[in-house]
Amino acid sequence: MSTSGRTCSTEGCGKPATLQCPTCIKLKIEGSFFCSQDCFKKNWAKHKLVHKAKIESEPHNPFPNYRYTGPLQAVYPLSPRREVPKEIERPDYAESSIPISEQMARGNAIRVLNKEEIEGMRKACKIAREVLDIGAAAIRPGITTDEIDEIIHNATIERGAYPSPLNYYQFPKSVCISVNEVICHGIPDKYVLKDGDIVNLDVTCFYKGFHGDMNATYCVGNVDDKGKELIDTARECLEKAIAMVKPGIKYRDFGRVIEEHARKHGFSVVRSFCGHGINQLFHTAPNVPHYNNNKAVGVAKPGHCFTIEPMICEGHWRDEIWPDNWTAVTCDGKRSAQFEHTLLVTETGCEILTK
Ligand code: MF3
Ligand code: CO
Ligand code: CO
Repeated sequence: MSTSGRTCSTEGCGKPATLQCPTCIKLKIEGSFFCSQDCFKKNWAKHKLVHKAKIESEPHNPFPNYRYTGPLQAVYPLSPRREVPKEIERPDYAESSIPISEQMARGNAIRVLNKEEIEGMRKACKIAREVLDIGAAAIRPGITTDEIDEIIHNATIERGAYPSPLNYYQFPKSVCISVNEVICHGIPDKYVLKDGDIVNLDVTCFYKGFHGDMNATYCVGNVDDKGKELIDTARECLEKAIAMVKPGIKYRDFGRVIEEHARKHGFSVVRSFCGHGINQLFHTAPNVPHYNNNKAVGVAKPGHCFTIEPMICEGHWRDEIWPDNWTAVTCDGKRSAQFEHTLLVTETGCEILTK
């Protein structure tokens, strides 16, 4: 304890204070003085909350007992929840966090969209494209993923759309941002992007009743050749799968082409996360796996809308989820890259709605 001339911090004590809390000195908390060792001890249960509040207000790892698979760690506190103007039409889960309409539709057949619905999808997907490009333009060493979330949130609501991730099964932010070994569903936080990182932005916009979903992976400054090859391969996997889309193709067929291309480069394909039907619902039938020998059900027909979004890994394909219950990382801490488009099956092939 060191000495100084103040009044005791204990409520109702009022005596002259001579002693300063050593933890407060270490944490650079000013103004914690006590009259005596005894008073300090009696107050400990209450006073230590001051330490806790200070620690939690500063950038820190929220999961000190979790064994991370790679170098990347969460950096809390998360920023406060962002607001969406009340004029903007919201999906059913925006307040409750539960997508009831999606749950009600489980087991239903793949929807064939009519002309008006297709026009609705085109608009939502165009907005998603614009918003992703705005977010991507902000990527640089030194920016935090939360700052990119703010840019994407604002670009989305400026266009009259709702950022689909926000409160979907309690996802706390407006975009998924996945750095290096994060496969998908990274939560924007106080992590500062650094030269050499790879970063995926996954944007989904809900506009006038329809969701448009797309993502892409970007280099932060200079990335090594293996990282660039990983990104290029993930993009090519998506392109090769898109080239197959036409009426009659089975939703289980994409995985073979995607996995063959990934393996040719020595990379692996994530199995836990798949492409999905998308329309008035964020995630619906069909399920679209990206790996070979999958058992997915369904055949593409004109009017189907769905995503393909292969996640390609430098090392092993197995994922693990952080204690935030969202962030999916590679089990070996090696990098993963992803690209996604929302597609409309046409009479002759497909329209890339998020192009
Ligand atoms: N956009 C993701 C996808 O491609 C889903 C994100 S769900 C969220 O399917 F809640 F994490 F946003
Ligand atoms: Co997405
Ligand atoms: Co998707």
